[in-house]
Amino acid sequence: MSQVLLVTSSPRGAASHSSRIARKLADQLASGDPQSTVVVRDLFRDPLPHIGEDFVTALGTPAESRTPAQRAAVALSDRLIAELFTADVIVIASAMINFGVSSTLKTYIDNLLRAGATFRYSAAGPEGLVKGKKAYIVQASGGVYSQGPMQPFDFQDSYLRHVLGFIGIADVEVIRMEGIAFGPEAAEKAVSAATGRVSTVRPHALAAGA
Ligand SMILES: Cc1cc2nc3c(=O)[nH]c(=O)nc-3n(C[C@H](O)[C@H](O)[C@H](O)COP(=O)(O)O)c2cc1C
Repeated sequence: MSQVLLVTSSPRGAASHSSRIARKLADQLASGDPQSTVVVRDLFRDPLPHIGEDFVTALGTPAESRTPAQRAAVALSDRLIAELFTADVIVIASAMINFGVSSTLKTYIDNLLRAGATFRYSAAGPEGLVKGKKAYIVQASGGVYSQGPMQPFDFQDSYLRHVLGFIGIADVEVIRMEGIAFGPEAAEKAVSAATGRVSTVRPHALAAGA
């Protein structure tokens, strides 16, 4: 049995390729075991509040001295972190927006990265605390960034890989759909290649030998 956490984030809603292909991937990962489940965190339909003064101040304030607003900000972050820890495998759908991740996905990450909860600083440097998980990133972009002149401007891929590694998730597989803006034929080619790749992914419970 596996729990798959599916995080979708494109502001393009129903038109989003990354959300659709990530959903297929999450279902594929959960298949093969009727007990496996997919938990959906839809950041487009249910956007999270940006972190703000209450959240930041609360982190430096003892729990018993926090204001109700500070407690609420930390409680939300706690829920998101618990959801992440409960998952065996995480699927993140990411649309490239202005060379990086969408603001909804950035806000999700801002709520997740907390010293003492998802990472800690030790004498040996930062240590990720979210261990033993696998993540998939399903990316879509209008242009092509895996090669060519735009390569240095892909802040989506490097940012997501870094953040996941920082919290301890080193086992990361990326499925890219590029050139979506280069016409319907190019988009169709990218989407069908990603769909083909998804169909070859083994259900998580079987791959994990459960
Ligand atoms: C507001 C906005 C900004 C975008 N910025 C970029 C960009 O900087 N680079 C790029 O290659 N594509 C950009 N795109 C195109 C999207 O990456 C493309 O439509 C992709 O398919 C979005 O993912 P989705 O299909 O999952 O929604 C942008 C699209 C929108 C709506």
